Amino acid sequence: MKLVDRLACRHGREASAALVRHLHDFVREVEPTYEEWERSVKFLTDVGAKCTPSRQEVVLLSDTLGVSMLIDAINHRVPEGASETTVLGPFFVANAPEPPLGSNISGGLPGEPLFVDVSIRDAAGRPLPDAIVDVWHSDKDGYYDVQSYDEGGGVNLRARFRSDAEGRVWFWSIVPSFYPVPTDGPVGDMLRAQGRHPFRPAHVHFMIAAPGFATLVTHIFIDGDPYLDSDAVFGVKDSLVRKLERREAGATPDESVLDHPFAIMTYVFRLAPSLKPR
Ligand code: BEZ
Ligand code: FE
Repeated sequence: MKLVDRLACRHGREASAALVRHLHDFVREVEPTYEEWERSVKFLTDVGAKCTPSRQEVVLLSDTLGVSMLIDAINHRVPEGASETTVLGPFFVANAPEPPLGSNISGGLPGEPLFVDVSIRDAAGRPLPDAIVDVWHSDKDGYYDVQSYDEGGGVNLRARFRSDAEGRVWFWSIVPSFYPVPTDGPVGDMLRAQGRHPFRPAHVHFMIAAPGFATLVTHIFIDGDPYLDSDAVFGVKDSLVRKLERREAGATPDESVLDHPFAIMTYVFRLAPSLKPR
């Protein structure tokens, strides 16, 4: 057996010993009755049973218990100058449409027009051309397109762009809203039992990949949202909150003219170097 496999096994044994130790400490502290133990078994069984290829209730349980963000904190200790990460969430879709820079990805949905203008740089501030930038977000009522695919809904409010020679990506969309995580399953029952609300503050998701850099999975949260201090999945970090700039109808940053007021979201992403050899 290779040394690396032996270490992996040892780590696995240590982890299972720690799990048993903490589990026993929990049971000793709480002293559940038989009935409570049976209800716990049913809860975990229901969490598993709720999962489908498009619904991951176990990940939602991890998200709402703060475990996903703890895993994020342990695995993404970002170096000085690099942007912070947050949860991926269940609404990412691979193979999103790849419209040209400057496109409108709203699919004609109603809402306040939003001009998103971001730069992709390395941790020292040098621009990164040709970065692959996936974006996705909810509509003005807090729904993602994937939530209506089963009823025949189309793809919108998501796209994959490639940064230009200055490392810039810009596009039009609509301002997203806060929204609840899915509450029609056992995790929803848990949140209600805990007396917690299910909401996530409004945000735009970004996944940014460039050769030689760690893929950045993050969101930009909209300043002023009522749920910024109580995100149901604990994903907010101060450095990821941005105030939208509000503009009256008229000239836009991409030299068009809008007859509605609109909002602008800007951000400079700084990617950490990849830990893997190039
Ligand atoms: C999201 O931001 O899309 C999300 C993250 C975690 C749980 C549910 C939704
Ligand atoms: Fe989201």
